[in-house]
Amino acid sequence: MDPVPPTTIRTVPGDARELPGVAPGSVELVVTSPPYPMIPQWDESFRRWGASEYPAMHARLAEVWSACHTALIDGGILAVNVGDALRSGSDGFRLWPNHVEVTRACESAGFRSLPYILWKKPTNKPNAFLGSGFLPPNAYVTLDCEFILLFRKGGLRPFPRNDRRREVSRYTKLERDHWFSQVWDDVRGIRQSGVGRRTGAFPPEIPRRLIRMFSVVGDTVLDPFAGTGTTLWVAHELGRNSVGVENDPELSAALEREALRRTAAEGTG
Ligand SMILES: C[S@@+](CC[C@H](N)C(=O)[O-])C[C@H]1O[C@@H](n2cnc3c(N)ncnc32)[C@H](O)[C@@H]1O
Repeated sequence: MDPVPPTTIRTVPGDARELPGVAPGSVELVVTSPPYPMIPQWDESFRRWGASEYPAMHARLAEVWSACHTALIDGGILAVNVGDALRSGSDGFRLWPNHVEVTRACESAGFRSLPYILWKKPTNKPNAFLGSGFLPPNAYVTLDCEFILLFRKGGLRPFPRNDRRREVSRYTKLERDHWFSQVWDDVRGIRQSGVGRRTGAFPPEIPRRLIRMFSVVGDTVLDPFAGTGTTLWVAHELGRNSVGVENDPELSAALEREALRRTAAEGTG
């Protein structure tokens, strides 16, 4: 029997908090990057969601983490790419530690925290130093890492002995040593142009590693904030089913067209 059955790509227009069409316990892995609270690019998204203050933004996201918990199987993994933000608030310029709020919310939703990854994007530019000159103590450390937070629902995922799907999903020792180290400093962010500029798309290498690390072929991978569909296309290439939710009508129409194109190309390939 072929251990890699044909896979499907499903795109669903709608709200990430509701995950329309995603049945409870039907997903093995979630890989996503939400709109980041306190980053101006996402202010409008949160306003449409009825949230303009930091706690309200995280309260909306918390509903998504809860919905992901319901969608996952026991032993399923949630991977969230999020960055902190630097911005002035009523008490002056400060850090908004999004990774802390997401961690707290995921734990409240019933997830168990796992060791996270720091994604440090390589850059040719010298660091954007925030402060004046060389006199202590009022400068700020440059914010140049994003987080890939990892959570599990319940205990370890059980597999039958010598499971074929697990065997064919094996990674090499080199891949393991590289991917399971805590700092990823070799994945360049992608130039944000066209639709990508609007969505803050992540480079395919991020979902590629996470999907190989935390799922097996034939699994289903969900992205509740699908954007340009990076997670969905990579999952498909890796023999996983994928489902993506997106609430921007233009983006979700584009996702649907691209999903059809890819599945049709496969049929004729
Ligand atoms: C950071 S982007 C995700 C980018 C994606 N990883 C990619 O590679 O293109 C967040 C996406 O979430 C979408 N979004 C914002 N609020 C949403 C909501 N309530 N439900 C579903 N999608 C939402 C935005 O339109 C945007 O495309």
